[in-house]
Amino acid sequence: MTSLARPSLRLRASWAEAVAEFSEAGDFMHGSGLWAFDDLDTSEAGAAQVIEYLLAQADPDAELPEDRVPCTYFWITDGDEFVGYLALRHRLTAWLLEEGGHIGYGVRPSRRREGHASRALALALEEAAALGLERVLITADDDNVASWRVIERAGGVQEDIRKGKRRYWIDLPRTRQAPA
Ligand SMILES: CC(C)(COP(=O)(O)OP(=O)(O)OC[C@H]1O[C@@H](n2cnc3c(N)ncnc32)[C@H](O)[C@@H]1OP(=O)(O)O)[C@@H](O)C(=O)NCCC(=O)NCCS
Repeated sequence: MTSLARPSLRLRASWAEAVAEFSEAGDFMHGSGLWAFDDLDTSEAGAAQVIEYLLAQADPDAELPEDRVPCTYFWITDGDEFVGYLALRHRLTAWLLEEGGHIGYGVRPSRRREGHASRALALALEEAAALGLERVLITADDDNVASWRVIERAGGVQEDIRKGKRRYWIDLPRTRQAPA
């Protein structure tokens, strides 16, 4: 069953395998937040550093560079195994509004076409609503059929194409306000 987990050492072994697999395939790890690391150390100690970094990005009070916004990083799991990444940005910058969007994701090559991205995005929309977002922007390269199928399946309505990227919006249900 597909779930969204926060990055955790309990997922280290399958995460390390997936990192090697992305690398062998020459695939960029979309939604991982890990471009900040030049050399990814997937040992226990290295993973602990990566996880600490990723968890810290979700803190709304963290001091971030001007072009960064708080972001909740999830690891997509199937049972006890890491199968992919999903990033949920809490708000948009000018660049994110134009090209990057609120949500990015990537599934490890050997676990694609099993429905993980579609289910993960559905779960991420609940997380986005819980953050108080009223709608989310998700973008996909115009030639990335798999990604725009995932977005359309989740109810994405295409606004336009900018710089080769299809830009889709998804309206979110308002979460119930706690009684005063
Ligand atoms: C895009 C990506 C996340 C899709 O992940 P996935 O888990 O394989 O997607 P799903 O299994 O949920 O498939 C969703 C839909 O896309 C279709 N699809 C998946 N891969 C496809 C492909 N290579 N070509 C055509 N359609 C494809 C599926 O058939 C399914 O269609 P359906 O809803 O009509 O049945 C994955 O291909 C990936 O990681 N790509 C590299 C990273 C990337 O492009 N990320 C998006 C940019 S942020």
